[in-house]
Amino acid sequence: MNYKIALIPGDGIGPEVVAETVKVLNKINEKYSHQFEYKKVLAGGCAIDETGSCLPQETIDICKASDAVLLGAVGGWKWDTLPGDQRPERALLGLRKELGLFANLRPAILFDELADACPLKPEIVQGGLDIVVVRELTGGIYFGEKGFKETDLGPAAYDVEQYAEEEVRRIALVAFDMAMKRNKKVTSVDKANVLESSRLWRRVVAEVSKDYPKVTLDNLYIDNATMQMVKNPKQFDVIVTSNIFGDILSDEASMITGSIGMLPSASLAKGNFGMYEPVHGSAPDIAGQNKSNPMAAVLSAAMMLRYTFGLSDEADAIEAAVKKVLAGGYRTPDIYTEGMKAIGTAEAGDLIANAI
Ligand code: IPM
Ligand code: MG
Repeated sequence: MNYKIALIPGDGIGPEVVAETVKVLNKINEKYSHQFEYKKVLAGGCAIDETGSCLPQETIDICKASDAVLLGAVGGWKWDTLPGDQRPERALLGLRKELGLFANLRPAILFDELADACPLKPEIVQGGLDIVVVRELTGGIYFGEKGFKETDLGPAAYDVEQYAEEEVRRIALVAFDMAMKRNKKVTSVDKANVLESSRLWRRVVAEVSKDYPKVTLDNLYIDNATMQMVKNPKQFDVIVTSNIFGDILSDEASMITGSIGMLPSASLAKGNFGMYEPVHGSAPDIAGQNKSNPMAAVLSAAMMLRYTFGLSDEADAIEAAVKKVLAGGYRTPDIYTEGMKAIGTAEAGDLIANAI
């Protein structure tokens, strides 16, 4: 089969992890006789430098004409002093909105091989961790009305948290469908003791849950959820939450798996279209030094094969190859522990490709 993939290498370590991912995808091509066709496009800081805009229209058009998008990372020191609406990060928000990517899946899996890298006590994570955060990605405070106004206390700024029932329903459906394929538990996280939008969220999630009698639904307030995540993370299977709470909880969940350098993500639209990216950022401090871990990007490509292309054997093959490399004792600096074999970005890509 022929698949069109828009590649957004972006900034910092983005280009190097995307290059390694393409190596791995090409190996899949060879082995399973697919045709992955890549189109490289600009977004983020590099796009600002070349075109003056962090998200050129051409990028949006090519992404829309593709079957899926694979993104490295955007942002860096160089552009940190630009005004908020011109920062490279705006490119991410623009892509999410333009491509209708309302469902963000962020799996946090503790690989047995990396159990030592987990900052929690061994007894808390014994038996491993397998959580997926389902984050609403195109609504809430990120996209609500925002602005400045005069108040009794002087000049003020505001950002509105707003959710339509339909926005909650469609993300809840993704979470419950996912739970049905996993351990049949959904934890919905909100702040319904304070926020009106959270009370609406909780009510709609409860309505959706009626169609999933086999799935257990738990509701937690965000403050309690962040605490439970380090106290007893094994209680979680699928977590569904709003844009901003999901931003925070997914970083926390990623940290307890040892390294953010390992974690992939998928951002899905209605239908099969999706954008896939590592959860880590652009890490400008280590860019171009063969120090970054390409595994999160490679595992994001595996999610692309599974969710957008429906190629689950191929996705399994990539995940197994990553595990094999870890089991062989190979470690990039972010996950290196004493006695292991130190490798760089390119070696990691080669090893994974060869293990397929
Ligand atoms: C993420 C990032 C982004 C977000 C930033 C870079 C805009 O933190 O993908 O989690 O807040 O969504
Ligand atoms: Mg974040």
